[in-house]
Amino acid sequence: MRVGIIAENILENLALKLGFVPTPLGETLFGSILVRTIMVGTKVGIFEALASSSLTAQDVARSCGIHPGATSKLLNALVGSKLLCVSGNCYSLSRVARKWLLKESPKSQYDSVLFGLVEAEIITRLEDFIYSGEPLNVHPDFDVSESSSEMRSLYQRGMCSRAKLSAGEVARRIILNKGASQMLDIGGSHGYYSVAICRRYPNLHAVILDLPSAVKQAAPILAEEKMGEQVIHWSGNALTEDLGEDKYDLVFISQLVHHFNESLNRALIQRVVRALRPGGTLVIQELIRREKPDQGGQFGALLDLFFALTSDAGTWTHQEMASWQRDAGLIPQKPIWLRTMPGVGQQIAMKPVKQQFKTLDLIQNLKSQIQNKSEVYK
Ligand SMILES: C[S@@+](CC[C@H](N)C(=O)[O-])C[C@H]1O[C@@H](n2cnc3c(N)ncnc32)[C@H](O)[C@@H]1O
Repeated sequence: MRVGIIAENILENLALKLGFVPTPLGETLFGSILVRTIMVGTKVGIFEALASSSLTAQDVARSCGIHPGATSKLLNALVGSKLLCVSGNCYSLSRVARKWLLKESPKSQYDSVLFGLVEAEIITRLEDFIYSGEPLNVHPDFDVSESSSEMRSLYQRGMCSRAKLSAGEVARRIILNKGASQMLDIGGSHGYYSVAICRRYPNLHAVILDLPSAVKQAAPILAEEKMGEQVIHWSGNALTEDLGEDKYDLVFISQLVHHFNESLNRALIQRVVRALRPGGTLVIQELIRREKPDQGGQFGALLDLFFALTSDAGTWTHQEMASWQRDAGLIPQKPIWLRTMPGVGQQIAMKPVKQQFKTLDLIQNLKSQIQNKSEVYK
């Protein structure tokens, strides 16, 4: 899947296929206007205003407290972009807007789209980065002084709305032993993945480790799920906290390793291995970068650039993550691609069961004893 110019009839389709359409022009000129039109439309409340009935531009302007003339232009731009419909002089929501942009929709991306305004500011600094190679280090939770609490809260809510798209599938894909009781969700913020996994495994208890500033904003989001003591937060830095030893049946790390460079990630995985119980599972879930940029995967490649700008890091391939797991003593499993989140995958690995090794050692010992004895009797 990728973002780009979409043909609306056979002729345009043909022109696109034959390379007659100046796609870079369309993607830059219209792409940048489209991005801000959707974000501003969401922020000023256009979609909420139209949630229960169709309205004229004047009514929408009154309801949102915005300028009537400018509102007409914005509404027409949203009609052209298939987010609104118009009949006579009344505007209504398209199916797409109703499903993804309304605050109360079960699949709502409202907060996520609003957080896009912050991301859009960050990306304006790309050119400086390309010249200097100096990352901004602007992760919303890294620098408390630079990011307002509203921005950090928006970040957590935005992450949660993205997580809700795939949490059901994620919970279904994670296979645990019946006796599994302890889960650690590193960089888990809102905790929605832990909630979904614990609902699937009612005997499982999850601890969500995240930075103190993030936990402050994420706690009310988690509280809405009413999981009580089954899913709790732990304020701390995953890079420095003692994660313990033989404690967890499942360690889940979603969308965190793109904030760290390779050596930080390798060190983290080694500490995770110590924290896992024998037979335990590590799931790293990320927007995956393809091994080669021409293998498709525009999202992974674009975010690789974005995270290099924000955090001196980037997206990782399944193979890179599997190598951290293997080198730390885990047994990596086959790469997984999520169906509900295009471009996102899981790299799962198991901690070997010591007992297995003991049994294997025992068999090996017996074999060599038998061999030795038969040598003696020869
Ligand atoms: C992109 S969000 C992912 C949230 C969630 N796991 C998900 O997939 O929706 C990254 C999270 O990692 C947290 N984080 C970043 N650095 C961290 C660190 N050193 N220790 C703990 N958490 C960290 C951030 O605060 C943020 O909540």
